[in-house]
Amino acid sequence: MNVPTCRIFRAAGALCLFAASWSMVLGDAGSVPEEWKLPAEWVQLKAGKGRELAAGQCVVCHSVDYVTTQPPLGRAAWTATVEKMRAKYGAPLPTNSVAPLVDYLVSAYGKPDAPK
Ligand code: HEC
Repeated sequence: MNVPTCRIFRAAGALCLFAASWSMVLGDAGSVPEEWKLPAEWVQLKAGKGRELAAGQCVVCHSVDYVTTQPPLGRAAWTATVEKMRAKYGAPLPTNSVAPLVDYLVSAYGKPDAPK
């Protein structure tokens, strides 16, 4: 083997050793230390019909705190928020999930609508 080829092989060998030792440290993906795991934060969402939908759609881009720390909003305000997420920020919400999401948000984080 000529010298340059040998160098490449040595570099590859070192890389392999490096990767192997890291995989020993990390183990398989299922066994990362508890403190390294991201919290399943959507569990903070209040129970209610539509919670799974919100858990799937509303924590894609930001933390669930954006939802849970809002003051109680009426239906119009939640509708406007969900529409803004969809139209302005590009949330990939199917149009038929807007109404069920708004229903959930109003019942879990809303306030009764002002009398007309
Ligand atoms: C495509 C990304 C995306 C998705 C999905 C998304 N949001 Fe947002 N959201 C944003 C961005 C961007 C902001 C503005 C962040 C900032 O100002 O720091 C925001 C802000 C908010 C705020 C703060 C108030 C405001 O109007 O800016 C609320 C409440 C909110 N989102 C609720 C929701 C809800 C409810 C859903 C699910 C229907 C959702 N978001 C899904 C991107 C998204």
